[in-house]
Amino acid sequence: MVRLPEALVTARLHLRCPVMDDAGAIFRSYAQDPQVCRFMVWVPHASVAVTQDFIASCLAAWATGSRKAFVITELGESEPIGMLEARMQGSMVDIGYVLAAQHWGRGFMPEAIQSLTAVALQNPEIFRVQASCDTENTPSQRALEKAGFGREGRMERYTVHPNISAAPRASFMYARCR
Ligand SMILES: CC(C)(COP(=O)(O)OP(=O)(O)OC[C@H]1O[C@@H](n2cnc3c(N)ncnc32)[C@H](O)[C@@H]1OP(=O)(O)O)[C@@H](O)C(=O)NCCC(=O)NCCS
Repeated sequence: MVRLPEALVTARLHLRCPVMDDAGAIFRSYAQDPQVCRFMVWVPHASVAVTQDFIASCLAAWATGSRKAFVITELGESEPIGMLEARMQGSMVDIGYVLAAQHWGRGFMPEAIQSLTAVALQNPEIFRVQASCDTENTPSQRALEKAGFGREGRMERYTVHPNISAAPRASFMYARCR
């Protein structure tokens, strides 16, 4: 079983397990925002009830250990500003992430990804942390590069991003290995 801590602290951020009370802030700050959701595999949440259902699914997954979705807050704050999820896939961990638009451009996500990746790669059975992103999602590519990930290739027709098209689109695969 991959061991990831329940919480992580970086220079500026706190990553922790979500609680149901986070739903309102997550909904308001980014989950309903079409700009934020453009390259996500989900559509903007229509109501806070959708966010609550999502948090319930995260909590169930934390309990089994199959994936761990960390809420991101600024140090000393309690309001979520984004999430970083680790999905356990044997000897590798696949990550996904999202940040409220008002916090873009401050290097927060590279900082969070770098921290979680370092901890994941300390597990003896984990050799690889990977992420895929749309070939047009330059901010995500830059965040991964700043977190020490290398681009490994382009995968055609890899992911459906429903806010853009119903047809699967090309993605880049990034990874950091040990
Ligand atoms: C991808 C994302 C998490 C990056 O997080 P971040 O903390 O803003 O990352 P950084 O501050 O390192 O900025 C990364 C890049 O975003 C772009 N960027 C910076 N400020 C920006 C802004 N205000 N608006 C739009 N893009 C911006 C730049 O290309 C920057 O790269 P650079 O530093 O080389 O100029 C964030 O843009 C986001 O949440 N996007 C929507 C969700 C998403 O696409 N998730 C990834 C799915 S694979």
